[in-house]
Amino acid sequence: MKTRAAVMYEHNQPVVVEELELVEPKANEVLVRTAASGVCHSDLSVVTGAIYYDAAVILGHEGAGVIEQVGEGVTDFQVGDHVILSFVSYCGNCRMCEMEKVCLCESYDVPRGFLLDGTYRFYNSSGDGILQMARVATMSEYMVVPEQNLVKIDQHYSLEQAALVGCGVTTGVGAVLNTAKVEPGSSVAVIGTGGVGLNAIQGAVLADAEQIIAVDIAEKKLDFAKTFGATDVVNAAEIDAVEGVREITKGLGVDYAFEVIGNPDTIRQAYQMVRPAGTAVIVGMVHHEKEFSIPAQHFVSSERRIIGSFYGSCQPRVDMPKLLSLYTEGKLKLDELITRHYRLEQINDAFADMEAGENARGVIIFN
Ligand SMILES: NC(=O)c1ccc[n+]([C@@H]2O[C@H](COP(=O)([O-])OP(=O)(O)OC[C@H]3O[C@@H](n4cnc5c(N)ncnc54)[C@H](O)[C@@H]3O)[C@@H](O)[C@H]2O)c1
Ligand SMILES: [Zn+2]
Ligand SMILES: [Zn+2]
Repeated sequence: MKTRAAVMYEHNQPVVVEELELVEPKANEVLVRTAASGVCHSDLSVVTGAIYYDAAVILGHEGAGVIEQVGEGVTDFQVGDHVILSFVSYCGNCRMCEMEKVCLCESYDVPRGFLLDGTYRFYNSSGDGILQMARVATMSEYMVVPEQNLVKIDQHYSLEQAALVGCGVTTGVGAVLNTAKVEPGSSVAVIGTGGVGLNAIQGAVLADAEQIIAVDIAEKKLDFAKTFGATDVVNAAEIDAVEGVREITKGLGVDYAFEVIGNPDTIRQAYQMVRPAGTAVIVGMVHHEKEFSIPAQHFVSSERRIIGSFYGSCQPRVDMPKLLSLYTEGKLKLDELITRHYRLEQINDAFADMEAGENARGVIIFN
């Protein structure tokens, strides 16, 4: 069948929207019609090469849609089911899965962007195979994905709001509740209050944190942060982020700092703004060739902790329906995250707006 998709053919060049041929789902795979795809910074990082994929690859990993066809052996899903796409495939049986660390599942040793049998499902008009970001490719009208990447949801949810749960919401809220396990009464700083960071703020609200300090260089983002529950803001374009947070916390520093940008400098800031024995949580995806450094002796003598958080340490099929329930109960903001809609053809505009700090989240809507 034919589908239109946003394809990265060359790093740091405009993304190409074109018609591709999509083959039928094989065993344990499903054909999904995409309803909406959020535009996450990780998509832009695939374009820049910070998150490395060989070209050509279809972008998009934050989405929701409706099942149109199921492959042989698929028993948990049916045509018509509404699903969120998970950007990890997990087996459910390996050591990491049994430890409930399903996002760290190590069973699938397949090169990035191929489906689990190591082959393509998408081809361009020249007959070249096209990879799928995170094995999903939500920036395509249709996608064939492993059933392991699907989370079934109730049909009354808007697929547009549900799409955001596929990455930003689960990553941000999960970093606070699952990875860091922030205690009630804690003080929290979130550096970078974009689509993911705003959800870390929401997570801190859900955790009953007492003080939630938003740090960003864009005033507009700090305004968003206040509506999502930040109690204080630091504009890092105007003052030093670490000093700003220290001042608000009367010199002590915060219990938890979340870095949600992907920059070695702001990772160091996160480390510096936590109190002794506090925890810096790294959510941002730094360029794959870069490292960060911190003063080693100080790290020991201050007993600070630095931990990584991937996909909010979530269990997609457990956590995503729970997050949607919180939305229904009015405890999680999803509508307010969506500040602009785009058509697939506008993907390069969506990336330009992301770089200009325009949106909380931009969302591509399909017909
Ligand atoms: N760990 C995971 O599983 C996971 C999942 C999704 C996204 N991510 C990563 O999270 C990061 C954020 O993604 P996003 O979609 O929210 O991006 P975004 O572009 O929406 O937000 C980034 C924010 O950082 C701010 N910022 C940039 N430089 C800054 C600085 N020096 N000081 C303070 N603020 C600064 C920007 O103004 C913006 O508000 C990216 O690195 C993305 O790849 C990680
Ligand atoms: Zn993402
Ligand atoms: Zn596993």
